[in-house]
Amino acid sequence: MVQHHAPAPVNMAHPWKHHVDRFCRQYLQLEPSLDFPPAEYLKLDTVQELIYERLFADDALLYAPPDRYRLRTLKQLIARIEASIDDWDEHAVSDNLMSLLPVLLSAPLPSEAASVQQKHYVTYSLSLLDRGLGESDEAPSITLLENRSLISAGGTTGLRTWEAALHLGQYLCQNPSVVAGKRILELGAGTGYLSIMCAKYLACRHIVASDGSDDVINNLPDNLFLNSLQDSPLVTPMDVKWGHALVGTEDQQWNEGQSIDVVLGADITYDRSNHPALVGTILDLFELHPDVEVYIGATQRNEQTSQVFLDTCKRSGLTVDDLEYPVMSTKRQQGPFYNDRDPIHIYRSSNRPAYGLDATNVASQGLVASRVKRWRPCNRAPLPDVMSGGGVTLEAPCRQDAASTDVNPVPSGRRVMGANKALRWTSIAADYWWPEHRRVRGPGTSQRVNKLVPARRDVASLWGAGEHG
Ligand SMILES: C[S@@+](CC[C@H](N)C(=O)[O-])C[C@H]1O[C@@H](n2cnc3c(N)ncnc32)[C@H](O)[C@@H]1O
Repeated sequence: MVQHHAPAPVNMAHPWKHHVDRFCRQYLQLEPSLDFPPAEYLKLDTVQELIYERLFADDALLYAPPDRYRLRTLKQLIARIEASIDDWDEHAVSDNLMSLLPVLLSAPLPSEAASVQQKHYVTYSLSLLDRGLGESDEAPSITLLENRSLISAGGTTGLRTWEAALHLGQYLCQNPSVVAGKRILELGAGTGYLSIMCAKYLACRHIVASDGSDDVINNLPDNLFLNSLQDSPLVTPMDVKWGHALVGTEDQQWNEGQSIDVVLGADITYDRSNHPALVGTILDLFELHPDVEVYIGATQRNEQTSQVFLDTCKRSGLTVDDLEYPVMSTKRQQGPFYNDRDPIHIYRSSNRPAYGLDATNVASQGLVASRVKRWRPCNRAPLPDVMSGGGVTLEAPCRQDAASTDVNPVPSGRRVMGANKALRWTSIAADYWWPEHRRVRGPGTSQRVNKLVPARRDVASLWGAGEHG
């Protein structure tokens, strides 16, 4: 479904307001290129003072941009103001702005090279949440300590915020019911932008901000602090590496047995060698929490990589919808700001069946045993109940991670299904519900189903004799 963004608001009382807002918000986000208000407004005293008070006054900002960036912006601003003034008897450059220039010029600045290595405060304005605020109210925002020019360091790309997070965040701001009141897991959380947004503004019940990088996890408390979430019970940082077992580890229960309703992930599909591991983890999550909904923001830097991800999902039985939520053109953005060159997809996957293993669908779509091979294994919502209810139990001595050749031993007595289970479930379902039917092996089933323990519960009766084909 295509969703249209609401038009950028224009304030009739102060036609310069949205230009000033946009400029200030770009500055706080350390945008390399700023849209200065047009000359007709820039020469006005009121506009200059407003910019000074919002950005440059001593007490204007708790978390200010670095001095090098402040100085560069101030110089450009003064030059623009001077150029905008045609009548110097009527207009002038603000004394406040002018007197700050020598102060910044005389401050010791790190070299350009040193500065790009450093982390800085970056404030993202959430303009989609500022509807209904008064004229002087600031938009809700998220401040993070990060390095915007860093692509990768210490083996992680998670020390800066990526466009896909900003875009998925926009989607959530427009569709807050996706996360409101929900228990969420963010995969590859990086700077924690989305997790912080969900906890600070979108009324989630709880969010696990997970990542596989120690550096990223160690960085998260700083960013939580900057958003007053340091003592909040709403956010828990957690080390989750894709492709590693969530269950069958030393922990008795993953996530202390808490359920997960929604999984979020932004820019976690850029590396195709990671896809099997990522999809393995998503399958594990579906196994643990069958009703979970997965939302992934994916920048399409390369069409092939996106397709490889979708193909991996498809092969694993995951149904993925593209929500067709387009990036707003940069000209109309009011914060956060991100480029509109590359498409960013928002993919959603859930167990909600198009058709699947539930009675209604079997009855209404006339699926019978002879067609069981064609069932899509992702649609397995009712199975966990059946499985855990003492029905079919798959006993496997070990499980193999989808991502690697690691074999994780399963403590004896535990019954764990591997990442390929979706396909195997198809065959189990067939055995279970149609015992007279010969075992159907799902296509591509690579691990042997060691043993099927016959059901104690007569689940077949749930379906009625007529459905047995
Ligand atoms: C491009 S960054 C995206 C960060 C953040 N979601 C954003 O969009 O700003 C990818 C993140 O995934 C994490 N990551 C990469 N491979 C991973 C894996 N195998 N297991 C867990 N996390 C992983 C990285 O540490 C990094 O934080």
